[in-house]
Amino acid sequence: LDNGLARTPPMGWLSWQRFRCNIDCKNDPKNCISERLYMDMADRMAADGYKEAGYEYVNIDDCWALKERDPKTLQLVPDPVRFPSGMKKLADYVHSKGLKLGTYGDMGIYTCGGYPGSKFTMETDARTFSEWGIDSFKMDGCYSTTADFPTAYPIMEFYLNKTGRPILFSCSWPAYMQTKDINYPLIAEKCNIWRNYDDIADSWDSVKTIIKFYGDNKGNFSAVAGPGNFNDPDMIIVGNRGLSYSEEQAQMALWAMMAAPLFISSDLRSISNESRDLLLHKGVIAINQDKLGIMGQRVFAVSNIQVWTRPVLPAGSYALAILNENDGGSGTTVKFYLSNLAISSKSSFKLTEIFQGKDMGVFNSTTEFAIDVDVSSVFFGKLTPVS
Ligand code: DGJ
Repeated sequence: LDNGLARTPPMGWLSWQRFRCNIDCKNDPKNCISERLYMDMADRMAADGYKEAGYEYVNIDDCWALKERDPKTLQLVPDPVRFPSGMKKLADYVHSKGLKLGTYGDMGIYTCGGYPGSKFTMETDARTFSEWGIDSFKMDGCYSTTADFPTAYPIMEFYLNKTGRPILFSCSWPAYMQTKDINYPLIAEKCNIWRNYDDIADSWDSVKTIIKFYGDNKGNFSAVAGPGNFNDPDMIIVGNRGLSYSEEQAQMALWAMMAAPLFISSDLRSISNESRDLLLHKGVIAINQDKLGIMGQRVFAVSNIQVWTRPVLPAGSYALAILNENDGGSGTTVKFYLSNLAISSKSSFKLTEIFQGKDMGVFNSTTEFAIDVDVSSVFFGKLTPVS
C-alpha cells in the first residue's frame, strides 16, 4: 500500500500472543488488557533500548472495547474500567514517548473475541481512530465471509486514507483464505502488511510450521513484498517460555529473511537480558530492515536442513540462513556451493556470521562451504561481494 508507511517492515509490540483476551483486571491487574499494560510497554520500549533499535508501534489487539457501540454515534467505546483515560489520552501518552499506537478491529460483525466488528461502520471507525490519534489498524477477518474480503478490505483502506491521518493498515485477508485463490497483487495494493497464515503460539513447533508455510510460498506471495507492503508471519515470541535461546535466534533470523514485521509479543517488564539483547541485535535488525525490502526465499531443503537467501544491500549481497530442524543428534555439517543457493555471480563473497559478527572467510563459485549447524539452531550470515 503506497501510503508512505511501512517502507521497511514495521517494528513494535503487540499484545495478543502473550496477553490474549485477559480482561480480568480485578484479579490480574498487571496482565489484563488495559491502558496500564500498553503504558507499561511504551515505558519499557522507550527506556530499555527498543525505541532506539527501531521498535515503534505499541499495538492493542482484541478485547479492548465494550460489547456495545455508543447508541447515538455508533462509535466503538473503549472499556471504561480498563481504559479509564480513554483512547485519545492513551495515544497522547504513547506519542509523548516518541512511539505510535495501533488498535484492532474486524471486518465482520464481531471480532474473533466477540467484540463489535466494523462491517457496517467502516467510515465511522476510521474517523474515530483518526480522532483518537491512532497510527495503525489491524483488521481481523472473523464473523465474515471470505468472498467479501476483496471488497471490504479496500473499502476500509479507502476510509482510512480519507481521514488524512497516516494509519498503517494490517489485514488478515489471506490468513482466512489459505487454500483458495488469493489475489496477492490486490492485497499488496490495499494493505501495508497482511497475515497469510495461522496464529503463532508459544512453541518451536508453531514457529517451524510457519517457516514451512512461508518457505513453500504457495501462490508466490513473496513476489509482492516490497517497500510499503509486507507478508506478516505473525508475532515475535522471543522472551516467552516456548523457545530455547537457539530457537529464539532462529525465529529472529528467519523473520529477518522473510522481511517480516517485528511485533514482539512478550512481557518487556520481566524479559531476560539475553532475550532483550537478541531483540535489539543490530545485525539482525539491519537485515530485517534492509531498504530493498525483498523477501527472502527457501532455496533448498533436504532432511530437516533448509537454506534461505535474501538479496540485501550493498548491491549483490545476500543474507543467508541455514536452519537445522532436526530434534536429535549433535548437529550437522552443511556443505554446499554458491550455485546450490541459486547465486550465479562471478564475484567472490566475504561471509560474515551475524550473531557474533564473525568473519568466515572468502568464497567463490568453486569453493565448498562447510558450516556446522546445531539442532534446533540457525546459522545466520551475510555474503558481501569482494570483487
Ligand atoms: C485472530 C488473529 O489472527 C490473532 O492475531 C488475534 O488478533 C485474534 N484473532 C484476536 O481474537
